[in-house]
Amino acid sequence: MPSAYYQPLEPQASDDNDERWAIEDDDEQSSGRTERSSQYQHLHTRCYPQQLLATGDQLPSMGMAPRLRGAGTCRRSYCIMLLLIVVGVCFVGYFFVSPQSAGRGDDGAEDANGIYEPHNGKGKRRHLKLILGMQMIPHDHPFKATISKRNHGRIHSTTGHALNEPLHICSESPEDRRVYIQDKPRSAYAQLPVIYFVTPTYPRREQIPELKRLAYTLLHVPRLYWLVANDQERCDTFLDTLLSGFGIPYAHMASPMPSEFRKSKPAPRGVANRRAALQWLHQQNITNGVLYFGDDDNTYDLRLFSEIRQTQRVSMFPVGLIAEYAVSVPVVRDGKVVAFLDSWVAGRRWPVDMAGFAVSLAYMSQYPNVNMPYKPGYEEDLFLRSIGLRIDQIEPKGANCTEILVWHTQTKNKKSAVVRLNSEFLDGRSNLGALFQSLKLMGVASASDTEGPVAMISKNGKSKSHSFILS
Ligand code: UGA
Ligand code: MN
Repeated sequence: MPSAYYQPLEPQASDDNDERWAIEDDDEQSSGRTERSSQYQHLHTRCYPQQLLATGDQLPSMGMAPRLRGAGTCRRSYCIMLLLIVVGVCFVGYFFVSPQSAGRGDDGAEDANGIYEPHNGKGKRRHLKLILGMQMIPHDHPFKATISKRNHGRIHSTTGHALNEPLHICSESPEDRRVYIQDKPRSAYAQLPVIYFVTPTYPRREQIPELKRLAYTLLHVPRLYWLVANDQERCDTFLDTLLSGFGIPYAHMASPMPSEFRKSKPAPRGVANRRAALQWLHQQNITNGVLYFGDDDNTYDLRLFSEIRQTQRVSMFPVGLIAEYAVSVPVVRDGKVVAFLDSWVAGRRWPVDMAGFAVSLAYMSQYPNVNMPYKPGYEEDLFLRSIGLRIDQIEPKGANCTEILVWHTQTKNKKSAVVRLNSEFLDGRSNLGALFQSLKLMGVASASDTEGPVAMISKNGKSKSHSFILS
């Protein structure tokens, strides 16, 4: 199918800028060094009673404090009124907008603040700031009302779909061209719910091998729709060909990370991609089947797919190789999830990895504010909050979370190689011309006349410059 742009969703409840601001607000609040914070401080110096205490004054009482007589009395009442309004607004704001109040019900689970050890090498301090920000600034809740700087603090509507981005589809095919899957003909699986397997991916030299490895796993999974979202502005035609070749129903979309996040550390990896896939599901009006976020570098046991396929609301299961404990897992007692074991809690109500849960689309479609905000480290938590999950509703999988069916394997990301291989030799005289052409297409390596280490070719254990053998 040719490229097509899907329309953004209406109405808009939240946008990237708002979320971006929310992150910046967090940082500013906790650092207290920015211009905005100092203005905020200034306001408080004028009106906040504790400032008077700090400068040696007594607590102001009506008509008594000498420094507040006359014009000062007026200013004091103004300040008190202002303070009451601010407290009132904060109070109301907290209950309407805080993440804790966002879900349909509260599971009463405590958000324990443990030792902040972010997994995947994310900066500790950055995360700490975000957590503090989340607790201190209720308005930063990304999928409910947001206070936008752009709109001068007006509160957006709290209804409507929280995603609103153009969606660029590169190629797609709903057709399953596999004849046999595992040991049965495809038709034997016709009654099974479909698993929508969402894979964020991004250009780097490991991209194609990772996707191939994943594809060869997915080829064994019946009734699977692969949503591959590439973190790149333009469509990659090599990916189109690769994906269509597997015969798995798929959609390939281009979903670049918004440029303002590119340089942030940590960056919200895979978020634009997953948002695009959510948008696709929404626009296709898919309200049946199961959603699973499967990164391109993880390792999946085939039994995972049979486990998650019957998810009624949200199922959860252990993920191996996560951070310090080498596992992130719900704690199950008497067949019920009661808590979580994860070495990076950081205030998250749902301290789980992206690969550690699956969601029923029938359930998710009841939540119009479903969202995955650009908040590094909190994507899973905020996504699960946006669909009003309660702890007693979670379905533990993998023999009550005793088996690891998915591994958070990681592949080192290295720059694409440049090899000095003279172009005059990259012709039909040897295989190397065609090989390097294909390596270039895959973003793995390229040949150059002027850059990189000179390619040496060896024979009988003796190496010589490539020109010696190829000429
Ligand atoms: C962990 C979690 O397992 C991810 O689900 C989560 O998105 C990520 O942390 C995060 O929050 O940053 P990790 O192995 O550290 O994953 O991250 P990557 O595997 O590098 O990235 C997660 C996914 O996003 C991958 O599928 C990757 O291909 C994709 N990605 C990564 C992008 O699309 N763009 C990038 O710039 C980097
Ligand atoms: Mn990964």
